[in-house]
Amino acid sequence: MTKTLDADEILKHAAPLQRQQGHEIQPYGHIIKMPIALEESACSESVENLNQLLADTMTLRDLYKKHHWQVAGPTFYSLHLLFDKHFEEQSGLVDAIAERIQALGGVSLAMAPDVAETTLIPRAPMGREAAPAQISRLLHAHEIVLKEARTMARLAADRRDDGTNDLIVSSIIRTNEAQVWFVGEHVVDTPLVRTK
Ligand SMILES: [Fe+2]
Repeated sequence: MTKTLDADEILKHAAPLQRQQGHEIQPYGHIIKMPIALEESACSESVENLNQLLADTMTLRDLYKKHHWQVAGPTFYSLHLLFDKHFEEQSGLVDAIAERIQALGGVSLAMAPDVAETTLIPRAPMGREAAPAQISRLLHAHEIVLKEARTMARLAADRRDDGTNDLIVSSIIRTNEAQVWFVGEHVVDTPLVRTK
């Protein structure tokens, strides 16, 4: 006797299991001890500082994209391109910071509402600003990041977390300093055609 196939029964096993819920596997603010020869307290302090740096770097990244879209005036094209280049570089830093947090056994911030609650960079208006105001806003944000990054780098070195110190010094500080230079030169008031 031939066995008939029960299509409904078979298809039940081929469908994606949806709307599943479960508890968090690691709550925010709690550290997992990783076998990386670092004290748990050192990892915990680094994670806390890196999450602050992450929130501020994500905000600076988004500020660059906002300005990339909304820039106006005779320098539109060069600023439009420059802002997007800096956005890409800040995006790379965001990923490096977040993955460092996870490597230390922490939980990285990720979502916009949590970033907005954490960042120290003042909230930008929803509307457009003139290019000099955009640039001032960016320079202020960079300085907030650089100030905290220098302090955090020293503290990481003090607790022997060389990996975090290296990330902050080699990537975050140097990238932010270079971006300040490129953006800042646009608001130096030099003559365009005549020297006087
Ligand atoms: Fe674009």
